Amino acid sequence: MTELDIDARTDPAHTPWFVDGNFGPVFDEVTDVDLRVTGSIPPTLSGRYLRTGSNPPSGMSSHWFAGDGMVHGVRLDAGNAAWYRNRYVQTTKFERGLDASDPEVMLDPTASSANTSVLAHAGRIWALEELHLPYELSPELDTIGSDDFGGKLTTAFTAHPKLCPQTGELHFFGYSPFPPFLTYHVLDAGGALVHSTEIDVPKGTMMHDFMITRDHAIFMDLPIVFDLSNLESPIGWDDTYGARIGIMPRMGANADIRWFEIDPCYVFHPLNAYVDDNVVVCDVGRHASMSMQPEVYTPPAHLHRWTFDLASGAVNEQRIDERTHAFSRVDDRVVGLPHRYGWGVSHRDGSETTLREPGVVVRWDVVTGTQATYDLGPDAFPSEFVFVQDDDAAGEDEGWAIGFVYNASEDSSDLVILDASAPGSDPVARIHLPQRVPFGFHGSWVDDSALAG
Ligand SMILES: [Fe+2]
Repeated sequence: MTELDIDARTDPAHTPWFVDGNFGPVFDEVTDVDLRVTGSIPPTLSGRYLRTGSNPPSGMSSHWFAGDGMVHGVRLDAGNAAWYRNRYVQTTKFERGLDASDPEVMLDPTASSANTSVLAHAGRIWALEELHLPYELSPELDTIGSDDFGGKLTTAFTAHPKLCPQTGELHFFGYSPFPPFLTYHVLDAGGALVHSTEIDVPKGTMMHDFMITRDHAIFMDLPIVFDLSNLESPIGWDDTYGARIGIMPRMGANADIRWFEIDPCYVFHPLNAYVDDNVVVCDVGRHASMSMQPEVYTPPAHLHRWTFDLASGAVNEQRIDERTHAFSRVDDRVVGLPHRYGWGVSHRDGSETTLREPGVVVRWDVVTGTQATYDLGPDAFPSEFVFVQDDDAAGEDEGWAIGFVYNASEDSSDLVILDASAPGSDPVARIHLPQRVPFGFHGSWVDDSALAG
């Protein structure tokens, strides 16, 4: 442990916010069974809620995005909370004790932080981070290993692929500070890499997420630009870069993409996109700007609707909600299709979302332009919530929203289940966890049916 690490863990004056309080890591890997529950777990939920986040084992990292990934999981089975587990993803970065800022991490495709998202596809579970290969996990969260799809994947794998609910294809991309800056890929429903094509962009930019419609893949080339000649600040906002959205047919190639200029901004997370006749509609969480320096203010995200008329070329941008938010999600069954409802985390007083203040869960209805909030108490810090349908025939709001909530007054965490069809209601279940879950990033509900066969 370095002197800086010791200062950070013992002297609040030296503690960056992203390793302080519940941003700070937990140090034990725990297994607990038959968890205590307040309320009733819906008996239709049989699967796992899995979520990853940055959990530096030294207690210190260079950035909130830089610590080693620890996956927290809760197994639900026929109304019971069967287990909780938290496990480091045993990547080469983790095993070698490297910070994400180490040049060796940039050059080694297996040196993932694995701290950004978890999802299942083709019967397998992956922990993802956007500059490296995926890491496969067992259903009990043991690390199986990195995955390059039989040597076919030669780029990074985004942490925000999009699983098409109609075809079962997983659309994704890899970006890089080095050429090729952007490559589009598709895994088929069986998990085979069936399409890879390079896309021309002027420079390497931090492309955190992307979108699909029924017919398109959509790329956000925004002005967080790599400049590796600038050793002090190799990535940051570039006023000269502009901002553009690339829309191409699914399974298309570089020659098929159309670029649309938009007002410069940053989007970590779209809510969803779809195509309506010749108009591509994208609902996104738009930041007016963004800083990569963790101590520099980044304006919060508001829900915006971009429309791109593929016939006329017209672009429209409109803010559709004044409430700031983070971690927007839709029902996985409407990804790329018209959506009505969305889920996010928002500030309690609606003014701003920092994730460093107590919050509420928000449910948007973009058809009526209204929203509802679930207030989990004045000391509650909700993390990302994901929607899970009650059964396969359920409508878009007929199910549950699930996520971790940190209770500051007790320094404890629960897995909370909300009734998606009863906006504003109290939780139907709180599953009490044996240790706090640090604030993290993204996760998934992995239904037992997704791992069958
Ligand atoms: Fe993300």
